[in-house]
Amino acid sequence: MGERRDGNIVILTGAGISKESGLDTFRDADGIWAKVRLEDVATPEAFIRDPARVHDFYNGRRQRLASGEVEPNAAHLALVRLEAEWPGEVLVVTQNVDNLHERAGSRNLIHMHGEHLKARCDACGVIFAWEADLSVGLVCDSCGTSGGLRPHVVWFGEMPLEMERIYAALDACALFVSIGTSGNVHPAAGFIEQVRLGDGAQTVELNLEPSEGASRFHTAEYGPATKIVPAFVERLLSEGL
Ligand code: APR
Ligand code: ZN
Repeated sequence: MGERRDGNIVILTGAGISKESGLDTFRDADGIWAKVRLEDVATPEAFIRDPARVHDFYNGRRQRLASGEVEPNAAHLALVRLEAEWPGEVLVVTQNVDNLHERAGSRNLIHMHGEHLKARCDACGVIFAWEADLSVGLVCDSCGTSGGLRPHVVWFGEMPLEMERIYAALDACALFVSIGTSGNVHPAAGFIEQVRLGDGAQTVELNLEPSEGASRFHTAEYGPATKIVPAFVERLLSEGL
């Protein structure tokens, strides 16, 4: 790191940052996709084919999050410290649908894959805060349609949210940090290439092990997020970019 203390930072996070809070990742050996087929629960076709199955899958994960037994960890909190103390803008773009970044205190945050604790009506598009179970018989309070309420989660084959705002931030950043993601799912996995098209932003991967895109980052540190993310933030705040 040099002496630069200005410039905007974009931080991409994935399931790995929430692992030590007790939430499963997707592609680790004990991950979610080792227990259930994503084609059965995380695609628009699955929801048409068997909506009750999809609701069960998300109801279980939403209940876990709403239960209060899952807390933000030191890595989430380190990103809140960075947002508070870094002179430039710090934007967290998360692929995660848990609410641990906001519960830790992150404010400048984009959930590009949606949020567990929200539901959306397929008929009228209204988005509701939602902690309870979803089911096929529910009626939308806004338009009265029944059967159209779905998790406000981006499924495979659907367009992630706020992509324009994300690409504008990637093009304008001085530092891009990727934390706890395997680099398997686009468009998030392509953000590193978008940054490399720009003029000289630094790129860092912080992960338990090298991701698919590891070789595309200038520097990398490997280890559990609760250990390497606070240390990275401390160094960035004391030594600059
Ligand atoms: N600390 C840091 N990194 C960790 C930790 C940890 N304690 N535990 C696991 N990891 C790393 C793994 O090594 C892996 O590289 O986190 C990454 C998790 O990768 P995935 O399970 O593929 O999760 P993610 O990259 O977030 O998946 C992206 O895929 O299924 C879709 O929509 C879903 O948002 C998700 C997207
Ligand atoms: Zn509606």
